[in-house]
Parts: sequence; structure tokens; C-alpha cells
Amino acid sequence: MRNVILIGFMGSGKTTVGLRLSYRLRRPVIDTDKEIEREEKRTISDIFAADGESYFRDRETSCLRKLLQSKECRIISVGGGLPLREENRRLLHKLGQVFYLKASAETIYERVKHDTARPLLQGDDPQGKISRMLAERDGCYAAAADVTIDVNGKDFEHILDEIEAQADQA
Ligand code: S3P
Repeated sequence: MRNVILIGFMGSGKTTVGLRLSYRLRRPVIDTDKEIEREEKRTISDIFAADGESYFRDRETSCLRKLLQSKECRIISVGGGLPLREENRRLLHKLGQVFYLKASAETIYERVKHDTARPLLQGDDPQGKISRMLAERDGCYAAAADVTIDVNGKDFEHILDEIEAQADQA
């Protein structure tokens, strides 16, 4: 059995899909953002503010390395920027089967417009930021993915069905 890994832009539904999939497949779930916050005993916003984005990116890489040590078969949802590093994409492939939850800029904006916990989306023109970042990142997500799931306009049950149908030995 392999880990099921969920990647995608902020607000694409990785955390919620991860929790529901964990329940459905009866496998434990882990979220790299939550793991980093737990180890650092502070929020992502505090980490970005105190130590900057590159420190956080290094923590993401070490988190993946640590997950590779475990034999447990899990659902793993990862932060939206984690697949941008080539090294991380390599580690993700080693770690399991990678599902890209692909959402449009409009879907993402609707989901995150009231959110204050994502430092990269704060400030002016979040809609423009989302469109630009998504255009820059889409190629990395596609390169990291074994399977792409279009999540636009789909309810969670439908998304779970699609993942389950394509997951190895689910
Ligand atoms: C980030 C996504 C966030 C979190 C951090 C940076 C990004 O995770 O890791 O705020 O660069 O896309 P989610 O995708 O779970 O929101």
C-alpha cells in the first residue's frame, strides 16, 4: 500500500479532502502545515513573520524527509507551496501516489477570500495574486502529480469517489 498525497493551491480543498478520505479509507491523515506548526509550536503566519518564507520551505523539506522514515500508510495533505521545490517533488514521488486537486482561480478566491491565516494571500488584490501565483505554479503541480482531479463545481463526495477510483490498492 502507498501513501495517498494531496497537493494543490491554497483553498483547493486538500485538508478537508484529506480528513474525509482518512475516514473513508480508514487510514490516518497527516497535514504538513499542521505538523510544522506542532513541531515549531507556532502558527505558519508567525513562522513567516519571524523567520521568513525560505525558513518555512526548509521545514517543509525536512517534514517530507521525516515522513519518508515512516512505514505507516497514510493520507498526506501538503502545503500549497511545497511542490514548487524540485527536491520536494522528488521526495513526494518516493513517498506515495500524488493527487493534484486542481481548482480555478475563481473557485480558490471564493474559498479563501475571508481567510487571514495564509500570509501569501494577504494585502491588496488577493484575486490578482491568486491568478498570477496559480499560473506560475500549475506546471509544478502537474509535474508532481500522478493523477489530476478537477475539483471545480464538485462536492466533496464526488471528489472522494474520483480519488478512491484511481488510488492504488485503495
Ligand atoms: C502556502 C500554502 C499554505 C501554507 C503557507 C504557504 C503556499 O498551505 O503552507 O501559508 O505557498 O501556497 P495550504 O495550501 O494548506 O493553505
